[in-house]
Amino acid sequence: MIEPTESPTQRHATAVVEAPPDGSAPVRSDTQLAYRLHQQDLLAELGVVALKQNDLTKLLDRAAELAADGLGAELCKILQYLPDENSLLVCAGVGWNPGVVGSARIVADLASPSGFAFKTGTPVISNHLDQEERFRTPELLASHGVRRAINVILQGDGAPFGVLEVDSRSAGEFTSHDLTFLQGAANILGMAIERRRYVDHQLVLLKEINHRVKNSLQMVASMLSLQASTMRDSPAGQSLQDAISRISAVARVHERLYRSASVGSVDLSAYLGDLCRDMKALASTCDIRYVSDAEVSMVTDRAVHVGLLATELISNAIKHAYPGDKGGVVDVRLVRTADASVTLTIRDHGTGLPNGFTTKASGGLGMKIVRALLGQCRATLEIVAHSPGTAFVVELPLTEASPA
Ligand SMILES: Nc1ncnc2c1ncn2[C@@H]1O[C@H](COP(=O)(O)OP(=O)(O)O)[C@@H](O)[C@H]1O
Ligand SMILES: [Mg+2]
Repeated sequence: MIEPTESPTQRHATAVVEAPPDGSAPVRSDTQLAYRLHQQDLLAELGVVALKQNDLTKLLDRAAELAADGLGAELCKILQYLPDENSLLVCAGVGWNPGVVGSARIVADLASPSGFAFKTGTPVISNHLDQEERFRTPELLASHGVRRAINVILQGDGAPFGVLEVDSRSAGEFTSHDLTFLQGAANILGMAIERRRYVDHQLVLLKEINHRVKNSLQMVASMLSLQASTMRDSPAGQSLQDAISRISAVARVHERLYRSASVGSVDLSAYLGDLCRDMKALASTCDIRYVSDAEVSMVTDRAVHVGLLATELISNAIKHAYPGDKGGVVDVRLVRTADASVTLTIRDHGTGLPNGFTTKASGGLGMKIVRALLGQCRATLEIVAHSPGTAFVVELPLTEASPA
């Protein structure tokens, strides 16, 4: 039978403590009670911050403030273990001179209180650093006039993150109750760090997947391109070109996803810019000019729909407005019209539409796809005849449809 083991995150405080100099019993008083109740409040607050705060630096800074407050101390630091250097970096803290947080380091060996706590997982209380025989006092503590220190390990379920250390310049003693408070704070913090590591790992995996999907789609498009090159000028070759453009449009969105910080949305403006460049490379005779006046963050699925819409309308302009090798300019413009919508215009200066043209009556696959995509995006299409040329104006609401 497997014995239940204690999770490293639920550490209990059994410390390496020096003996009290006079062996006196701890004082119990209302002040003591108020002190402990204050510590409880601080732990509760840290729990809330740990759940709410996604920014790790801000979380560590706040945790350092709360830990120092809880022990009535002037200084607190969070030390992050750097395996390559075998050192503990002061990555957050309160009360330190400028230049300490973010750069000062302590060797992670058994000779310093923090190193000992890190290497052994045992909390360390040093109430008389000047008389300390077990450890050398790190220069950082000496230069800040620290007289006593308390150290606990910071650990989630995985490898330990580092050490939480509270330092005081005043005389007095850290007690085993203080240790219980600090270990509680470290446990909460350790769990929060662990959760962040997990989320970061998931993000890396998602980006990796997007990278692969994009590569796979590009490979399919390349193979189809080879095939299309043997069918030049035939209707089947042209259909294959259309299919390649559609696949490339989907591939591009995955490329945007692994390049951007967000995994659920893309910048529509930049994405359409990518598409225009791709289509220009495919259609050597046409100049595709893209103008956009705004960054528009859009949920990925929706952005793909808009990307495919643009692909159909741009490829029609290349193919039908400028038949043969005539070539010409296609203007693509994305403008934010009101707070909650954008207008995407694809304008050519070519032949104009056939008489009696409607998207419904045109009979082509492209227009069928356009109509379906307009419905999915809840967008409207206005077709404006110019002389010469045609403008397709898509009005796109930015707000998500409310669930039916
Ligand atoms: N920008 C345009 N200029 C001129 N004619 C166009 C334009 N866009 C579409 N058309 C006309 O609409 C028809 C339908 O287009 P579509 O449904 O995309 O099918 P396909 O491109 O396969 O012919 C085209 O065959 C063409 O006659
Ligand atoms: Mg078409």
